[in-house]
Amino acid sequence: MNTPVYDYLMEYVHRDDLRMHMPGHKGKGLDGWLGAAYPLDITEICGADSLYEADGIIAESERNAAALFGAGATLYSAGGSTLCIQAMLMQMKREGRTILAGRNAHRSFLNACILLDLPIRWMYARDGALLSGVISPQAVQYALANSPKPACVYLTTPDYLGGVADIEAIARICQRAGARLLVDNAHGAHLAFFPQSLHPIALGADFCCDSYHKFLPALTGAACLHCKNAEDAAALRSAMAMFGSTSPSYLILASMDLCNRYLANRVRHDVFSVAQRIHRLRKKLKTAFKISEGDPFHICIHAASSGLSGTALAQWLTAHGVMYEYADEDYVVLLCSPCTPLSDLERLEQVLCACDLPRTQIDQQPAKAPLLYAEMTPREAALLPCEQVPVHQCIGRICAMTQPPCPPAVPIVICGEQLNATAAALLERYGIREITVVKA
Ligand SMILES: Cc1ncc(COP(=O)(O)O)c(C=O)c1O
Repeated sequence: MNTPVYDYLMEYVHRDDLRMHMPGHKGKGLDGWLGAAYPLDITEICGADSLYEADGIIAESERNAAALFGAGATLYSAGGSTLCIQAMLMQMKREGRTILAGRNAHRSFLNACILLDLPIRWMYARDGALLSGVISPQAVQYALANSPKPACVYLTTPDYLGGVADIEAIARICQRAGARLLVDNAHGAHLAFFPQSLHPIALGADFCCDSYHKFLPALTGAACLHCKNAEDAAALRSAMAMFGSTSPSYLILASMDLCNRYLANRVRHDVFSVAQRIHRLRKKLKTAFKISEGDPFHICIHAASSGLSGTALAQWLTAHGVMYEYADEDYVVLLCSPCTPLSDLERLEQVLCACDLPRTQIDQQPAKAPLLYAEMTPREAALLPCEQVPVHQCIGRICAMTQPPCPPAVPIVICGEQLNATAAALLERYGIREITVVKA
């Protein structure tokens, strides 16, 4: 597969033109490892195309990505999935759609709804779980039947703990109801490269965002927005331009461009061999730890159900040279990718098998999403004068700013909701001591 953006950068570096354009470093790196990146870090000069009006090398690279993922059109983002989520939701606003969203949404979704003044109708997981609430087709069906039309359904899958929703069934329900299906697939770009694609677009979603940087070899900030139908791409691109920086990083764009070649040539092999190795690891650990099902590349240990404190296990892992992705009292999440060396999984297995932390019966259940009364919309609450109060004094007050623990950045309380004792206890459980509320 060709790499037009990367090739342009390499050619430009070798031309050694006078750099009478931004950025101010003029291609001259400061000392150190980062130095090699500066010559490639350019802006929209002649021949380099322009992200929000792409018709040259960026558009060509995006077409490569669309072919790889089986999308009608693919748009690049150098502002992560966050920018893609803003663009998808802006388009829903233009189409006048009611937003029905799974409660395990990332804060980037909530922030976009605040910016766009979109009220949200939440859908909850059957078990009410906060972080990994897989939304069922029945919940979607019910929500659609009881909401003003036209509507759209917004799912976060895989979620931070690797839980996956039945996108195929939900897509059928949405089609029958004339609703658009939007998927936050920030954690699932690799799903397109399983023997049978499990990618949201292949399963029937209208739009989805993939963070290339989270599970594929690309620089942090690299993401893309896929559209099932190419006709939607122009509107989505204009929405992206509304929120994105006018100086998107070419290093990030080039990393996606190069990643495409990896996706074309090698990723399927790597997905297969890493997934197989993870499968063996899971089997080996089964007697010592409860590990959740779902996306194989998210190794989510249910510490509490394994008789351990998640934070104690996380500390133990750090002390034994394993840096985890996320940990709380209930869970420890370890993330792999197709690029995880098999030898790393060998090492991980040895470390986990050697875990000699004492086990006890832990009765604590995973956190449930609190059911709170929304006094106002998220935007109304976010734009009112606000103040910080200690969590133990927040009962009866209206949340003005979401302070989710990050990661996983799933809001515990949504702005506009009235806080109660359950919410306060949950905030404290996640180590949040102060909260921003609407000024009395
Ligand atoms: C589920 C989910 N959605 C969206 C995002 C935002 O993605 P990005 O960091 O690529 O902007 C994240 C980031 O962690 C996430 O976990």
